[in-house]
Amino acid sequence: MKVSDRWPVWPKNVAADLAPEQRAVKDILDGLAVFFQSAFITDIRDTLITFPDSRLGIALNKKQTACKKWLVEELYNATGGTLGRVYILAGWYGVLGAMLLNDTRFEITHLSVIDQDPSCAPIANALNATSAAEGRFSFQVMDILDLDFRHPSGTFGRADLIVNTSCEHLSNFDDWYRGLPNGTLLVLQSNNYSSIPDHVNCVATLDAFQEQAPMTELLYCGNLELEKYTRFMLIGRK
Ligand SMILES: C[S@@+](CC[C@H](N)C(=O)[O-])C[C@H]1O[C@@H](n2cnc3c(N)ncnc32)[C@H](O)[C@@H]1O
Repeated sequence: MKVSDRWPVWPKNVAADLAPEQRAVKDILDGLAVFFQSAFITDIRDTLITFPDSRLGIALNKKQTACKKWLVEELYNATGGTLGRVYILAGWYGVLGAMLLNDTRFEITHLSVIDQDPSCAPIANALNATSAAEGRFSFQVMDILDLDFRHPSGTFGRADLIVNTSCEHLSNFDDWYRGLPNGTLLVLQSNNYSSIPDHVNCVATLDAFQEQAPMTELLYCGNLELEKYTRFMLIGRK
């Protein structure tokens, strides 16, 4: 029996010349992809090889991964996994999108990541290459303040779920939040890590976050204490 028949996730060989350290990382990711039969790990491998100078290592570090894994677990607890049409706003490299799309417990019709930084697009598309090939993933370069989910049109349909894990980055958070349709299912994360210059909208406590983003129906709220900061999460209907 061919090895790729026995284990369908069988990473393709890489022709490019890689530095010894890069090849070692690639080989380990290949092995993990086979062991866990994970197309997500294969996509990470391909993204790392294609974009060696990106900030992928930061986007996938243990703290970033913990915050997203926390979200995935509590979102499943809150919804039972039926998500429909998902929008991840200010979604950076699309790590959370890949986690959700590679988790077979979730029913996702389509998942779009929107970010204003065009340099994120090729990296997010590579990280979600398997789902993009299946027509389940797309990326759009836009300022999320320009989106109008109350009057969906063109490529923007109705949102069943809107996720924003970058609330600490939004200087005009109140304008953005006011523009979301009432009743929409939301997952929001913010933090108290105010020493980072890009963090222009930190909150000090979970209560302060709830005041900033009031929900008519709160399904989950909690905090996750990391070494240097605390991350806050709200799941509910606006
Ligand atoms: C450093 S990243 C994400 C950090 C966050 N903890 C996470 O992983 O979700 C913040 C992202 O927000 C995006 N962003 C900030 N303001 C935005 C806006 N108004 N519209 C679209 N994207 C925005 C940035 O381009 C960047 O990719």
